[in-house]
Amino acid sequence: MQENQPIAEKSKDDILVDRQGEVLTQPLEKKMTKQFYLESYGCAMNFSDTEIVASILNKEGYGPTKVMQDADLILINTCSIREKAEENVRQRLSVFNKSTKGSKPIVGVLGCMAERLKHKLIEEEKLVDIVVGPDAYRDLPNLIHAAQTGQKGVNVLLSREETYDDITPMRLDSNGVSAFISIMRGCDNMCSFCVVPFTRGRERSRNAFTIVAEAQDIFDQGYREITLLGQNVDSYKWTNPETNETVNFANLLAMTAKVNPKLRIRFSTSHPKDITDEVLYTMRDHHNICKYVHLPAQSGNSRVLKLMNRTYTREWYMERVDAIYRIMPDCTISSDMIAGFCTETEEEHKDSLSLMEYSKYSMSYTFYYSERPGTLAARKYEDDIPYDVKKRRLAELVAMQREMSRLSNVQDLGKTFEVLIEGDSKKSDQQFRGRNSQNKMLIFDKVEGYGIGDYVHVKVDTNNSATLFGKIVNQND
Ligand code: SAH
Ligand code: SF4
Ligand code: F3S
Repeated sequence: MQENQPIAEKSKDDILVDRQGEVLTQPLEKKMTKQFYLESYGCAMNFSDTEIVASILNKEGYGPTKVMQDADLILINTCSIREKAEENVRQRLSVFNKSTKGSKPIVGVLGCMAERLKHKLIEEEKLVDIVVGPDAYRDLPNLIHAAQTGQKGVNVLLSREETYDDITPMRLDSNGVSAFISIMRGCDNMCSFCVVPFTRGRERSRNAFTIVAEAQDIFDQGYREITLLGQNVDSYKWTNPETNETVNFANLLAMTAKVNPKLRIRFSTSHPKDITDEVLYTMRDHHNICKYVHLPAQSGNSRVLKLMNRTYTREWYMERVDAIYRIMPDCTISSDMIAGFCTETEEEHKDSLSLMEYSKYSMSYTFYYSERPGTLAARKYEDDIPYDVKKRRLAELVAMQREMSRLSNVQDLGKTFEVLIEGDSKKSDQQFRGRNSQNKMLIFDKVEGYGIGDYVHVKVDTNNSATLFGKIVNQND
């Protein structure tokens, strides 16, 4: 676990996605006359958007390149969630500035930072030609054309309708097994620390039939796992204009689960205030809906949760955790936790630690509070916890999670899990890596006859706090 970790990081591969530690590189399509180079930062929704952008560019005759110097167009899809995320982007922009030689490429900033800073980005970063917010990607071709004639362009209009549901994403995920599907956009929650409602606009849900069709299409291409994405998937709600029937998240889960029993369904993120028993029962009733819930608590103290405007209490959260384990005893839960939110006392911080222990998280993303301009917290509360205190509390959250992860993994010793093979283990090409339904990574020796995208049964024999190790066995061994 890293402190204040960026969800995406730079690696030696230039076009990359690092989703929770996994580096994926973009496959090169047949060479086109014009080429784009694209880097993506932030959450899974941003990566999913990057695939939509790539599809829009492809239609305009642009092919992807991994070599920045070869690109006619350099784009960076950005994140504003914490100050550090924005610093990373600024650093990358300065690298672009230095590394482009010969004829100057067009440089564009996309995503949340584009939305937050708007025209300011063009004023502040001399290399930037275009700035495009998350709801304006259809306008990219126009903005690029304008930039080719020397005009700088900004489109940061947010929409109440845009879901890009008619655009087939160009899958940038080279493992060919797992894909993201955005089911909604925006967020209406207004958690006081969070910039997302400002950068992504109002919540809207995508047509359920286009989601199911995309899932089917992905399965037909050989993918075996989809993750349904939204900032708060439990508030998914789409009304069929022809029948007036409403599809809620539980209904959508069941619809996608029926695409094929061999297609695994994951989803993120669940909001503790909205996750219903109906969703939990739907998960229980479908083998291929993964038994894993990412349920960010943010804090374990009810007063802090109120200041955060999360609209649930510690007790409510615990009841939801109890419901998950009661309905699905084999389910794992993970969380996001923030250390050192405005006015948080030592006792209140200890409540976060004890909630982590109570919830037995298999994994957590932990952050220290980073004030974001314009948010409710920035306007109403003083960012009064000193940096070193925030860091120390964060270290305590990390240590608690490490222990919870270890305990959770020890529980799995001797158990046999169905695992979807995702690729070679990072350390050895004699071993595969794959995840079980509970989203835990397993490493195991290769056996003749099995390959990427296959399901195998793996019996766990050893573990560390991050990974399980085992052997392929027959289902009943
Ligand atoms: N929609 C998701 C969260 C998306 S942002 C949800 O409601 O859970 C991902 C995580 O970043 C959040 O869960 C939160 O833990 C963290 N985060 C958001 N704003 C932050 C801030 N200002 N400082 C520190 N962490 C923050
Ligand atoms: Fe941010 Fe809260 Fe919306 Fe999550 S639910 S994106 S934390 S405002
Ligand atoms: Fe970052 Fe925007 Fe996602 S701020 S976390 S990229 S929604």
